[in-house]
Amino acid sequence: MSAVNTGDKIVCKIDGALVHSVELHIKQNHSVDWTMERYRAEFPNEPILSELAKAKLRERQAARATETAAGDVAKIFGKRPFHEVFGLGATKAAMNSRGEPIMISVQEEHDAGAEIYMAPIDPNYVFPIDIIKTILLALEHKMSFYLWGYHGTGKTTAIEQTCARTRRPFVRVQHTINTEEAHIVGQYVVRDGATHFQLGPLPEAMLNGYVYCADEYDFAMPSVLSVYQPVLEGKPLIIKEAPPEMRVIHPHPNFRFAATGNTNGGGDETGLYQGTQMQNAANYSRFAVTEEVPYMDKKIEVAVISSQAKIMTEDAETFVKFATEVRDSFARGVIGATISPRELIASAKIGVLRGSDWKTGIRQGFIARLSRVDKETVGEYAKRLWA
Ligand SMILES: Nc1ncnc2c1ncn2[C@@H]1O[C@H](COP(=O)(O)OP(=O)(O)O)[C@@H](O)[C@H]1O
Ligand SMILES: [Mg+2]
Repeated sequence: MSAVNTGDKIVCKIDGALVHSVELHIKQNHSVDWTMERYRAEFPNEPILSELAKAKLRERQAARATETAAGDVAKIFGKRPFHEVFGLGATKAAMNSRGEPIMISVQEEHDAGAEIYMAPIDPNYVFPIDIIKTILLALEHKMSFYLWGYHGTGKTTAIEQTCARTRRPFVRVQHTINTEEAHIVGQYVVRDGATHFQLGPLPEAMLNGYVYCADEYDFAMPSVLSVYQPVLEGKPLIIKEAPPEMRVIHPHPNFRFAATGNTNGGGDETGLYQGTQMQNAANYSRFAVTEEVPYMDKKIEVAVISSQAKIMTEDAETFVKFATEVRDSFARGVIGATISPRELIASAKIGVLRGSDWKTGIRQGFIARLSRVDKETVGEYAKRLWA
């Protein structure tokens, strides 16, 4: 009988009122001393939503998901030629196999909150066309992707600058051995004397339709990376600790998932990446696209160094010659370290500040941190090139 009388309502344990939503009831009828956290702590086994309220909530979520799926995407994206968006000129490499422009999506409207996630365009960025095409393909077709390779080869920047040009908001999260699930999905925080659940960067990106970049993916513990598994499968994210209305996060149709790392997930094969974890193959197999990002093509690397450090092409060429010798020696096992474009840019910048003293540049930007033995070998290369 009583079940009929209550109309499926539940009881507020503070005053015994029959309600559909305890949270709503508390807000309207009790003092600010009563928060949901306190209610949950004092009455851990009591329901918070009636069955009817739960059904309504689910309905609303489903309606919102179909609304965005149907309308938003077409409305806020425009199609523009790839070579124009990236300022490449009508070069053949930027066209399709029939020599026609490739049309890509550019986001034209943004919510107010998206502004802080818009990466600025780097005017000195040189677009490595192949990797950019791979990123664009994945973004266009809603595929998750993982880029891996040596440090400083431009993985993160490639994703960031692709987002900057296509005006997609970009959320980057760096991973380390100390990264915890709470840093990704969110946690309870105290604000104005009350605790609130603050959503983390992943649900934020999922709800708002941003590009999420899990940077240095292989530095995180495999147990932490398992939070990404359902998301990589296109499923909702479930935040177990969150209050009911934040617990199930459905991906917005514009949400995209990217990651970068130094290894392919199978542990470090080079001895360079101490701290990377041996990963779970099942996690990595869920990326739709995986690509190894090799060192840049020599010509591109020369262009990158001369544009980033503002030096002459001939001087940049010498840096790349030096890098080629270092990398070859590393590959042959002669030395135990290798050099990245990032280090070359830094060395060139020091050289500029030293009045074109490239030898000091390369010493302070790279050689000085090598082992005693490597320092000698590599020092010889530098002496030869910058005599
Ligand atoms: N194509 C490029 N054009 C200009 N600068 C680049 C390019 N790729 C990388 N850089 C620069 O090289 C540095 C290293 O790039 P980054 O994306 O951080 O490497 P990774 O993520 O592979 O470690 C950054 O300072 C970046 O600005
Ligand atoms: Mg990076």
